[in-house]
Amino acid sequence: MEQEILRIKEKAFSELEAARTLEELQTIKVKYLGKKGELTRVLREMKELPPDERPRTGQLANEVRAFLESELDRRFQNLIEQEKQKQLASEAIDVTLPGRPVRRGHRHPLTLIMNEIEEIFTGMGFEIAEGPEVEWDYYNFEALNIPKGHPARDMQDSFYITGEMLLRTHTSPVQVRTLEKTVPRVPVRIIAPGKVYRRDDDATHSPMFHQVEGLLVDRHCTLGDLKGVLLTFARQMFGKDREIRLRPSFFPFTEPSAEADISCLNCQGEGCRVCSGTGWLEILGAGMVHPKVLENVGYDPEEVVGFAFGMGVERIALLKFGINDLRLFFESDLRFLQQF
Ligand code: FA5
Ligand code: MG
Repeated sequence: MEQEILRIKEKAFSELEAARTLEELQTIKVKYLGKKGELTRVLREMKELPPDERPRTGQLANEVRAFLESELDRRFQNLIEQEKQKQLASEAIDVTLPGRPVRRGHRHPLTLIMNEIEEIFTGMGFEIAEGPEVEWDYYNFEALNIPKGHPARDMQDSFYITGEMLLRTHTSPVQVRTLEKTVPRVPVRIIAPGKVYRRDDDATHSPMFHQVEGLLVDRHCTLGDLKGVLLTFARQMFGKDREIRLRPSFFPFTEPSAEADISCLNCQGEGCRVCSGTGWLEILGAGMVHPKVLENVGYDPEEVVGFAFGMGVERIALLKFGINDLRLFFESDLRFLQQF
């Protein structure tokens, strides 16, 4: 029987040496030390030995069992450790590497211009008002004295949500929304910056663009005040020597109405693609608030008077930066944007 035990030990050991995986080790463990394992069977047969042989054989069997158990255990631990090392190597993070620098961004050129416009007008005592980009037909047109079917609607073709709701075509509805809240108080002095939308698309017309509305209502003010405010703005924005040109124009919500041009900085007034060859670039529409508009929101046109203007922010940015296509502002090309 001792021969048998030693033979089992040799066989088990050589199998252990060859085992390369946890599964193989487990199989060997069951094969020799499990309930029906070879060594377990031999131990059970021990009671058939003559009593004087039992102690020696028993001791040997126990030694072999202990030896195999500790060998198995050692190999299990080794394999587990190896697996861990392999995983660590494949996921290695070198904490001593220098960090990758995060590139700092900056404001979009249009945001820069908007901020500058806001600063100039708040410096003159105007407060900032806001209105929704999705607007009711009433505020965008009706209350501004542009009834359904009025030809002025053709100049501001828009994107409709429903028959009565649209993306606002200008910031002028904020005039109405503001006056509704301030009536009958004066003076009212606000600017309203924001996005507007039209069915336009060329080098100087974008389907989405920005306007800044201006509105002043008081007991007394004149077209001269309007011109003074616009000239002050133009000179702070474009330099002391700037002149503006006011052309008679028409808006249903102002009377009289004017359009203000600034000499084209791109071509120095000679005529180019930006100014459609005229040497001037239209930057805003303006006029004295129409009595009808004041009436619509509950002010008495006999008591108060006002002026309003609406400027195109992209046009001002084109002039300021000497750019000849406003679509560049919306293409998100970093080579362009990083210049500001
Ligand atoms: C208006 O939108 C009037 N609401 C302005 C106004 C306000 C008049 C208050 C009287 C009193 P107009 O459609 O001309 O007017 O547009 C105003 C300015 O927006 C233009 O001078 C131009 O600078 C700019 N603009 C117009 N359409 C576009 C466009 N598609 N892309 C970029 N800028 C535009
Ligand atoms: Mg116009």
